[in-house]
Amino acid sequence: AEVIIVKNQDEAGALYAKSVADLIERKPFAVLGLATGSTPLVAYEHLALEVRDRGLDVSHVRGFALDEYAGLPVEHPESYRSVITRTVVEPLGLDPKHVHVPNGALETIATAGADYDRAIEEAGGIDVQILGVGTDGHIGFNEPGSSLASGTRIKTLTQQTRVDNARFFDGDMNQVPTHCITQGIGTIMKARHLVLLAFGENKADAVAASVEGGVSAMCPASALQLHPHATFIVDEAAASKLK
Ligand code: F6R
Repeated sequence: AEVIIVKNQDEAGALYAKSVADLIERKPFAVLGLATGSTPLVAYEHLALEVRDRGLDVSHVRGFALDEYAGLPVEHPESYRSVITRTVVEPLGLDPKHVHVPNGALETIATAGADYDRAIEEAGGIDVQILGVGTDGHIGFNEPGSSLASGTRIKTLTQQTRVDNARFFDGDMNQVPTHCITQGIGTIMKARHLVLLAFGENKADAVAASVEGGVSAMCPASALQLHPHATFIVDEAAASKLK
């Protein structure tokens, strides 16, 4: 994989934004893979500016989010549907009906994963998938031990991830759902370009394991080593444990 070390988050956001804006310019029906969490926010902010400055027509752009909580009403402000609407769809001016988030409704969760993977294929596959990484190396909600060949499916959140995400639920991990539906590692690997962003020293171990460790299900992000076009964009703190 290619590793780009940037001075700050803005530089990372600008690199992502330029590459995605170039993509949309040559391919108006581009399919974007979207992530939630804190890391990609700066990238979406830069992309919104780039879209505005270049006057890009984004009315045909498609989006597919990585994951969603299971059993959390979509209207909940912290559902990933709500977060993607606030942080991506509205600022970029995308057509909401072209932006998909896995369906976390419990009634249909057994088939929702395969339906989602089919929808991605029918859209022509994801052109560029933005990723954050968990402190334990997870991508999407694929925690250590997840099959590297997995498709979209229901998963149990680890205690650590529920603690990490409690900040979005009044600091109370008991309000964080116990399950999620997430694109599998196999799903993520089908995207034509993967761009993983990581900032801050608490990501340094995960970045080192992903870039320089052995490829293993115990570090899901290490799968990127097998991808023909994967780019890590990391700040100096997140790069500090690379050799
Ligand atoms: C988000 C996601 C997660 C996050 C990861 C890092 O859709 O699937 O894998 O990317 O937990 O989260 P932040 O960016 O908040 O540190």
